[in-house]
Amino acid sequence: MDSTHMLMHEHRIIEKMLNVLSNYSRKLEQGGTVQPERLKACVDFIRTFADTCHHAKEEGVLFAEMETHGMPRNGGPVGVMLAEHEMGRGYVKGMAKAIDDYEKGDAGAGKEFAKNARGYIGLLSQHINKEDNILYPMAEDMLSDMDQELVGRFEEIEKRLGEGVHERYEKIVDQLERDSGS
Ligand SMILES: [Fe+2]
Ligand SMILES: [Fe+2]
Repeated sequence: MDSTHMLMHEHRIIEKMLNVLSNYSRKLEQGGTVQPERLKACVDFIRTFADTCHHAKEEGVLFAEMETHGMPRNGGPVGVMLAEHEMGRGYVKGMAKAIDDYEKGDAGAGKEFAKNARGYIGLLSQHINKEDNILYPMAEDMLSDMDQELVGRFEEIEKRLGEGVHERYEKIVDQLERDSGS
C-alpha cells in the first residue's frame, strides 16, 4: 500500500537519526565533546520530521482511520503506539534540557544527553519494528480501499510543514550521519 510505504520510508530515515544519536552518545559517554549545534539539529530533526510530520500522519490519519474502521484505541495496539509517541516526547525534552545545560558548561550534561538519547533509541527502534511488522500490515488489511486518500492526506501534512521541508530534513540527517561517524 502506497501510504504505508511512505511511512516505512520515513522509518528508514528516522533510523538514520537513531544511528546519529548513538554515535554522538558514544562520544559523550567517553568524555568527548560534540558541538551543541549538532545536538540541537538532532532534536530539531526529531521534533519536526519525526514528531510533527511522521507521528502526525500516524496519529491524525492512519491510526484515526483504523479506529474509525473498528480498532479500539484503548487496550489495543494503537493505544500502545500513542503512549510510546508520548514517552518519546519525554526523552526529547530530556535531550533538549541536557543541551541547554551542556552549553552552560555543566560537566554532567553530555552524559545526561546520552542517557535520554539511549532511552529514545531503544524506544523508537522497537516501536518502528512493531509498526513495520504488526501495525502497518493490520492497516493494510483494513484500509486498502482508501490508500490513495491516505496518501493525499499525508501530502497535505507535508505541505503544511512547508514546501521542500521534508526533503531538506532527509539531507540534514545524511550530513549529521557523516559528521557523527567521523
Ligand atoms: Fe509511531
Ligand atoms: Fe512510525
